Amino acid sequence: MDVLEAIMSRRSIRSYTGEPVKDEDLRTILKAGFQAPSAHNFQPREYVVIRDEGLLKRIAAFHKYAKMLPKAGCGIVVCGDRTKQSEMGFLVEDCSASIQNMLLAAHGLGLGDVWCGLYSVDKLTGFMTKVLELPEHIIPIGMVVVGVKDGDKVTVDRYDESKIHINRWLGE
Ligand SMILES: Cc1cc2nc3c(=O)[nH]c(=O)nc-3n(C[C@H](O)[C@H](O)[C@H](O)COP(=O)(O)O)c2cc1C
Repeated sequence: MDVLEAIMSRRSIRSYTGEPVKDEDLRTILKAGFQAPSAHNFQPREYVVIRDEGLLKRIAAFHKYAKMLPKAGCGIVVCGDRTKQSEMGFLVEDCSASIQNMLLAAHGLGLGDVWCGLYSVDKLTGFMTKVLELPEHIIPIGMVVVGVKDGDKVTVDRYDESKIHINRWLGE
């Protein structure tokens, strides 16, 4: 799929068939995540791939907006390493860029995906830190849920000229 087509047609998918994601697709998605830009090129990211059914169910039971996780069958938790990037804002942005790359890659492969937020909801980051046994310097930022989608969603055009400001807020 062409990159612009992928960007324009990507939607959050919350309905899955339950078929497993192929290992080679998962690897391609992760590779796309690693390719994302990062401040100073520090690449302060770590990825926890979750495919264990019990763990997927446990997370879905806790995370109010990740109920689709067990049926999708795969979650990739993108974590920031504070020892590599101490500026928290940059750490979040670096992880977010990686998440968006993975969403587009999964979509380009014909899979369904949805970004489930973790940071900065303390109870979610605390829970994920506990269940994934993350060390203190590793902060879970967001989770990419990936699976074989059960149908497509319509494309939406969100382009809005009124939100574009030329040279300064009020324009010319
Ligand atoms: C930071 C962030 C957190 C999100 N968290 C969730 C979530 O926990 N569960 C979920 O189903 N969708 C989540 N989403 C997806 C948004 O709901 C979705 O992107 C938005 O409704 C627009 O729809 P679209 O992705 O289909 O274009 C999140 C998106 C972002 C950027």
